[in-house]
Amino acid sequence: MNHLIIYAHPNPDSLSHAYLEVMKEQTRANGHDVVVRDLYQMHFKPVDYAADFEKSRRGEYPEEILTEQEYLRKADLVSLIYPVWWGSMPAILKGYFDRVFTRGFAFDYHPEKGLLKLLEGKKALVVNNMGDSRKHADASGMTDSIKNFIRSGVFGFCGIETVEHLLFGNATTRDKTVRIGYIEEVREKISKHLPIEATV
Ligand SMILES: Cc1cc2nc3c(=O)[nH]c(=O)nc-3n(C[C@H](O)[C@H](O)[C@H](O)COP(=O)(O)O)c2cc1C
Repeated sequence: MNHLIIYAHPNPDSLSHAYLEVMKEQTRANGHDVVVRDLYQMHFKPVDYAADFEKSRRGEYPEEILTEQEYLRKADLVSLIYPVWWGSMPAILKGYFDRVFTRGFAFDYHPEKGLLKLLEGKKALVVNNMGDSRKHADASGMTDSIKNFIRSGVFGFCGIETVEHLLFGNATTRDKTVRIGYIEEVREKISKHLPIEATV
């Protein structure tokens, strides 16, 4: 299977980066292909200004967007790794969705059928860290908000099924044992959704 990881964190010493390493390692160990799109390292441009926005409305996309769409087309599993920033995601990742998940590629509207979900059949795995505790985020409604945004608002809208969404709390303050536990949970989920393929 083809595993596409979209990674949005600027710090190579972050816990998020440890998730990236373990995801790559476990995907390969289980015999699957993996491609990483590291948005900060790529200096991904997250916004379209007027001229580019007009072009994209006409269906004219720059090469960098067509490249990202091709990676998505080939993917069976799309993983996202990003920290919770202001109840949501780093702007660079939001900009990736704004510019790459275009009408005609990710979704479309049909006069009779309504919304067409053009990325059906793909699965998604999401991993987030947040500074807040899970207890507080669950009680305040933030857990539901963070999960619904991506499950329904982005992936669900295009037909991608979110099969797993890990949201780790106290990611900046917990001790090493807990952090290792988070990393191992990521590894387990990769093995669950990208198991070792039986050979015949
Ligand atoms: C700009 C910014 C905004 C943040 N907003 C939130 C937030 O809304 N809720 C929260 O729980 N933590 C928030 N945090 C804390 C991060 O989620 C936390 O630093 C991160 O998850 C730690 O994991 P990492 O090592 O992978 O970065 C924010 C951090 C930054 C830098």
